[in-house]
Amino acid sequence: MKIFITRRIQPIAYELLNKEGFNFSVFSKNRAITKKELIKNAKNADAIISMLTDTFDKETISQLPNCKIIANYAVGYNNIDIEYAKEKGIIVTNTPDVLTEATAETAVSLILACAKMIPKVDKFMRDGKFKGWDPTIFLGTEIKNKTIGIIGAGRIGFETAKRMKVFGTKIIYYNRSKKENFEKELNAKKVQLNKLLKTSDIISIHLPLNSDTYHLLNNENLNLLKPTAIIVNTARGEVIDEKHLIKMLQKKKIFSAGLDVYENESEVNSKLFKLDNAVLLPHLGSATVETRNEIAKLAAKNIINVLKGKKPLTPVG
Ligand code: GLV
Ligand code: GLV
Repeated sequence: MKIFITRRIQPIAYELLNKEGFNFSVFSKNRAITKKELIKNAKNADAIISMLTDTFDKETISQLPNCKIIANYAVGYNNIDIEYAKEKGIIVTNTPDVLTEATAETAVSLILACAKMIPKVDKFMRDGKFKGWDPTIFLGTEIKNKTIGIIGAGRIGFETAKRMKVFGTKIIYYNRSKKENFEKELNAKKVQLNKLLKTSDIISIHLPLNSDTYHLLNNENLNLLKPTAIIVNTARGEVIDEKHLIKMLQKKKIFSAGLDVYENESEVNSKLFKLDNAVLLPHLGSATVETRNEIAKLAAKNIINVLKGKKPLTPVG
């Protein structure tokens, strides 16, 4: 059995595979594999651990004749054509649950960084501009008594809302279905998207990317945001029309945006770098020591199960 891992991950995954006597190869230590390299190097693999940066479209999948499982090292799996994989008899798995809290912590960090303008103020310090305490400079936005709008009320959305609730906020959410945990535990109401955009002081996005959510926030409905709004995205960049968001930030039509994800990753629109009302992270949602170990373990366990003829732990689709 050949296991192909597209990029270096935590050694715990290698240990688990070794313990089961499986052979594996790791393609790269420090960069994403290209589609061409993927097709060339994965073609004999029985199982693949893939990154969210790897493209498994029809062209790639059709050239994996032996592959039984693609274990994505991520909760999102928009990089994989799961319908086509299913057609080809390939199981796809993701890594839900283990990264929920880490990602919620990232969302909350971005919200606080935006509200308190932390990167901008940190730069002010490093530039040597601090001349002593001042009663009127860098007044941030208070979180207490504000309305938080959660777009996408899954696990990560819930854990983010729960943490924000502690600050004394009101929670509203937009989701296809009503969510008992939001309604009962957070006293949160489900609302239409436009209502959420109009009434929220802080908005946090927690939807997967698919054809329904691509540019869900677009050049029309983004204009509904309050001029004081903070919007944070730790889901996928393509959920927001990024060009329009940038225009709104340039014209100061909202207070701030906190972005962990971008529309054309790994490219980042350089206009963002000029905006001191944007807080930018390099797609770090789940990036903690503890969580990345759990993600690596879960991806390896999914592969071990499938190659041993057992059920995968976390299949998708
Ligand atoms: C990260 O973006 C993930 O989907 O796990
Ligand atoms: C992802 O795991 C989510 O449900 O938010």
